[in-house]
Amino acid sequence: MPIPEADPSRLFAVGRLFGVPVPERWRVLEVGCGAGGHLVPLSARHPDDVWVGFDRATLPIQQARGLADKLGAPVTLQQLDLLDAPDALSRAELPEAYDLIIAHGVYSWVPDAAREALWRLLARWLAPGGMAYLSVNCLPGWGLRGTLGGMLRFVAGDGPPDEQIGRARAFVNLLAELVPASDPYGAWLRREQRLVAQQGDSWVFHDLLAPTNEPVWLHEMVARAATHGLQYVGDAKLTAMLPDRLPAEAQARIASLGGSQVQQEQLLDFVVARSFRRVLLCRDDLPLSRDLGTDALRGMWARGQLVGEGKGRFRSLEGDELSTESPLLQDIFGELVRRRPGSVAIDELVARAPDDAARVRQNLLLAASRGLLELRVRGDGLVGAPGVRPVAEGVAAVLAAQGEVPSALGQRVRLDELGIRLLPLLDGTRDVATLVRTLIDDGFHLQQRGAGAVTPDALRGWLEVEVPQRLRSMARAGLLVG
Ligand SMILES: C[S@@+](CC[C@H](N)C(=O)[O-])C[C@H]1O[C@@H](n2cnc3c(N)ncnc32)[C@H](O)[C@@H]1O
Repeated sequence: MPIPEADPSRLFAVGRLFGVPVPERWRVLEVGCGAGGHLVPLSARHPDDVWVGFDRATLPIQQARGLADKLGAPVTLQQLDLLDAPDALSRAELPEAYDLIIAHGVYSWVPDAAREALWRLLARWLAPGGMAYLSVNCLPGWGLRGTLGGMLRFVAGDGPPDEQIGRARAFVNLLAELVPASDPYGAWLRREQRLVAQQGDSWVFHDLLAPTNEPVWLHEMVARAATHGLQYVGDAKLTAMLPDRLPAEAQARIASLGGSQVQQEQLLDFVVARSFRRVLLCRDDLPLSRDLGTDALRGMWARGQLVGEGKGRFRSLEGDELSTESPLLQDIFGELVRRRPGSVAIDELVARAPDDAARVRQNLLLAASRGLLELRVRGDGLVGAPGVRPVAEGVAAVLAAQGEVPSALGQRVRLDELGIRLLPLLDGTRDVATLVRTLIDDGFHLQQRGAGAVTPDALRGWLEVEVPQRLRSMARAGLLVG
């Protein structure tokens, strides 16, 4: 699975806001990379950087190698146990240190000996200016959810994962039916029931039903990091660091309790009952700044995470609202909406109003902290609308035949038969008319339910409508670079 928040381009951007240097060439290590769903497409998209991943499990590493071969991706993949990794990574052909070490879905899900090995690995292998990303289930939110997980493990029992998942899902529904909604416990169960219904099977199995699942308090994790010479940089999701989503009164009361950045965030976790964090760490001798200066935005890119809702009104994909009377800011945010999901160089946005550069950057930073845009240190070339002769993003084009492709946005995108045939044809040489002709010449046909193949004219007519629509939805899904 690609992990959108663990894209190095995003992580380095967050780090840079707090003073972590951004390397020219990235050396990235992924711990517990599984079947390479995150690491391998990234390495194919950034072939000039250095990519290394390991996992203890044999089959996923074989699958990751198969994917890397298919994509011609320059990545080193090893079957290796975390317990051995701190020493075993000393190999001549591997980097002497890493600018970014990613461990997603590992820390809370392994026994303490492996957690300790992960700390030793970070202490030994993180470059002096490097950063680590550790996702964790955290308290207090996971304390509650872990209680549900305990009940579900009890009823799910053993057997094939899909059967366990089926029993777990059915039992959440039963529980929610048995306990009246008027009871606070029943109200909580209903919220969890809705969450379980929204989540995929993989989350139910790997999170709720995971036999090892150790949630952490942020402050305890940071204290443990300190014993290994590491300090807290922030959360990969800026919105998790700031109380901006709370009412002003609540923000003021949390602020009045004082304390360090970590203590303030810990208090915030208590208030929002946070259950998941993406913790960024660096070496403790790296000077960090908490002032969030806008100068850090120079040379960065912004990807809008917002839609327009009428003049001067915007809404983030997570539901937060932004409204502005300023024609300049309406223009800037409007441009991010138009170019979405493509990213826009911040210097280009600033150039629209050079006399107001500081205000533009300040507002972009504010929007980033509220989740209305995503900061990145590199552009990605994605386009929000297909060009006259569309171009597919390279990884998606190669993997189209699988029927599901990892987008550069970090999502899996399902393709139907037309999508599977269309995507590899998008090499920038064909306009819509040529694409329709090529599909027909290549034998693409439509099966009408119960009535056999449609006539050639009907097929052409259908493709002339469907191909432009598919191209637009492919652009929106982050599959096109032209
Ligand atoms: C929950 S999965 C997460 C996989 C992947 N990072 C992702 O987010 O999709 C945990 C991964 O850690 C690996 N793992 C668990 N214990 C390990 C250990 N001691 N050494 C290396 N890998 C380990 C598992 O094999 C599995 O692939």
